[in-house]
Amino acid sequence: MNEITLGRTGLKAPQIGLGCMRIAGMELSQGEKLIRTAMENGIHFFDHADIYGGGECESFFAKACGMNSSLREKMILQTKCSIRPGCFDFSKEHILKSVDGSLSRLHTDYVDFLLLHRPDALMEPEEVAEAFRVLKESGKVRYFGVSNQNPGQMALLNKYCDNAIQVNQLQFSIAHCGMIDAGLNVNMDNHEGVVRDSGVLEYCRLHDITIQAWSPFQYGMFEGVFLGNTEKYAKLNEIIDRLAAKYGVSNSAIAVAWISRHPAKIQTIVGTTNPERLAGICASCSVTLTREEWYELYLAAGKKLP
Ligand SMILES: NC(=O)c1ccc[n+]([C@@H]2O[C@H](COP(=O)([O-])OP(=O)(O)OC[C@H]3O[C@@H](n4cnc5c(N)ncnc54)[C@H](OP(=O)(O)O)[C@@H]3O)[C@@H](O)[C@H]2O)c1
Repeated sequence: MNEITLGRTGLKAPQIGLGCMRIAGMELSQGEKLIRTAMENGIHFFDHADIYGGGECESFFAKACGMNSSLREKMILQTKCSIRPGCFDFSKEHILKSVDGSLSRLHTDYVDFLLLHRPDALMEPEEVAEAFRVLKESGKVRYFGVSNQNPGQMALLNKYCDNAIQVNQLQFSIAHCGMIDAGLNVNMDNHEGVVRDSGVLEYCRLHDITIQAWSPFQYGMFEGVFLGNTEKYAKLNEIIDRLAAKYGVSNSAIAVAWISRHPAKIQTIVGTTNPERLAGICASCSVTLTREEWYELYLAAGKKLP
């Protein structure tokens, strides 16, 4: 498993993390196998959120792996907070309460990373800073980050939070990469040139903030998986399958290799619940797509170059 350094923490982590959003409702034995397969393949980074399965995903994870202190030390655990029914909440009270809930469900005393899940329009950065201070001093959270935030929002938080933002988790796949489109079409009068994220990719690279790619196999907002979807993504699947055969890996591994090939050192958070598929995805580490292959996949997803 390839490793990257997360943000400016100095902490090494696998370039692939396992997202735990879909694990609630799995058979316990399958959950145990999934986590064991992850660990055996060097994926000791696990992404959670207080809302996944209404908290059930965190509880299931702890139960399935039989969480104990020695296993805990071998893992990097990340969770998120701020999404509440009908609103987003960056209040100190909510952040502290959410972390306590996650720690209890995960059967641990601390998480390595806490991310603010979605921007709160009513954010008061001084209050977030106070929550971060309490969490850091109590040892409940080692590092902090955000998800789905633009550069201005991160800069605002960093101004008050002692430059604490280390990661930003963003939707990113071959089929969903507006931040690439906009970067390729600067100042163009076309659809691709519309900047929807205020240049978040370049900002993160400039400030050593690690981008984590969520939904690496999906298109749209959970509209479906593009892999094997020959109705909507015929050309893309044709190229993916050809490269999968060339490198001797699965189609999912090629989709991850496309993300890893970007020099931003993006960490991909995969959400498979299938241990065999997860093991196959790890083979992406042996693949370095050529520049031509990377662009060929991009274009096959229906993108255009100016
Ligand atoms: N920050 C945020 O706002 C945010 C939002 C969404 C998700 N996330 C995080 O990102 C993680 C990943 O998200 P995700 O689960 O949407 O991503 P994903 O890995 O793109 O999607 C996983 C789904 O794709 C299926 N799949 C994978 N490879 C496939 C293939 N080759 N053929 C057919 N189906 C395939 C999986 O089925 P199998 O289970 O059968 O393999 C699973 O249902 C989540 O677990 C969560 O931790 C964060």
